[in-house]
Amino acid sequence: MSVQLSSRLQVIQPSATMAMTQKAQELRDQGVDVISFSAGEPDFDTPAHIIDGAKQALDTGETRYTAAAGTTALKRAVAAQSEEVRGVFCSSDQVIICAGAKHVLYNFFMAVLNPGDEVIIPVPSWVSYPDQVLLAGGVPVLVQTTQAQNWVLSPDALENAVTANTRVLLLNSPSNPTGGLIPKAEMTAIVEKALSLGLLVISDEIYRDLVYDGNTFVSALESVSDRQDQIFTVDGVSKTYAMTGWRIGWGIGAPEIVSAMTKIQGQSISCPCAVSQAAALVAVTRPLDYFADWKAAYLKRRNQLVKALNDIPGVTCPSPQGAFYAFPEVSGLIQKLGVAKTDIDFASWLLQEAHIAVVPGTPFGAPGHIRFAYATSLDAISVGMERMAAACRRLPAE
Ligand SMILES: Cc1ncc(COP(=O)(O)O)c(C=O)c1O
Repeated sequence: MSVQLSSRLQVIQPSATMAMTQKAQELRDQGVDVISFSAGEPDFDTPAHIIDGAKQALDTGETRYTAAAGTTALKRAVAAQSEEVRGVFCSSDQVIICAGAKHVLYNFFMAVLNPGDEVIIPVPSWVSYPDQVLLAGGVPVLVQTTQAQNWVLSPDALENAVTANTRVLLLNSPSNPTGGLIPKAEMTAIVEKALSLGLLVISDEIYRDLVYDGNTFVSALESVSDRQDQIFTVDGVSKTYAMTGWRIGWGIGAPEIVSAMTKIQGQSISCPCAVSQAAALVAVTRPLDYFADWKAAYLKRRNQLVKALNDIPGVTCPSPQGAFYAFPEVSGLIQKLGVAKTDIDFASWLLQEAHIAVVPGTPFGAPGHIRFAYATSLDAISVGMERMAAACRRLPAE
């Protein structure tokens, strides 16, 4: 007898990035040396002072439930940090701590969407956004952006996508998967347009500290001076502090939205992990003195990866300005694999032929592209790129 599952599951897909990580692991289990460019997490260890903070929390008994929205100390620290980063006053009742930024997004969609409400998502976008909207009963409306526009959504394209059912615009700068950054003037124009159309804006700013080449990060919140209560910010410890496994993220926005999310959180996970919250408090309140070295390392890796990619005939890869992803266009190489082949076939081919794991562009809404995460060593980049170049040389000439 088969088990009957919820129809909710029929509308969502498993995460494509996790699927590729899994495939690479299966090959590794067979003894193959696979170089992974698929997982979007820092390869640095969580800094020692943060780990010490967690040890101290364990020793002093911070091992019980906390308030559903997180500890007062962490919410205050997050509010103060956000004010410093975004230049906009924020009180602790505008903050909710969740089990990662992904969980913030999930709680947000559950809290604000009614069945049929539309969420505009500029694509390419992170794979989890559309599925989370679907899980919450909403309708993701994917609006294509192009490499020629630096992947930035134009206010006109936004307006054209809006219907009577549109409730939310989602922004993500710096972006996963493109590494693209929305400059200040464009950010202001899009957010002003969204607010004038009566939309809520949710801005995923998890990569805000990873910006290169003299560019500056601009938050959605600081880009406008009016109706800031219609902007909800998502952030967390995973990327800046190399704390992916600790599962702490936060949302900052209107107290009504925060309380609605708190109600959902209280009935689902009770509260985020107490020890992780104590560690996150150390993370956000201590100086980021290690971070300049990390950023310099990411920059070197990006430069080496982008150069090696562009040296392969058939690959075009502009230098991404933020995050730790490169998103080359590889249509010419895909064609060489055969008619009707896609970037999904190409990513599988790279895994089999070059033993490198990348994520295909289609799940991000960008066929013809593949995503490399360069949060890995220079050696791994060097060997991985040699393998890719050699495999591509074996493809038939056009
Ligand atoms: C754009 C984006 N938002 C959110 C997340 C999730 O972060 P967290 O580990 O805090 O759930 C990721 C992780 O890869 C991401 O790329």
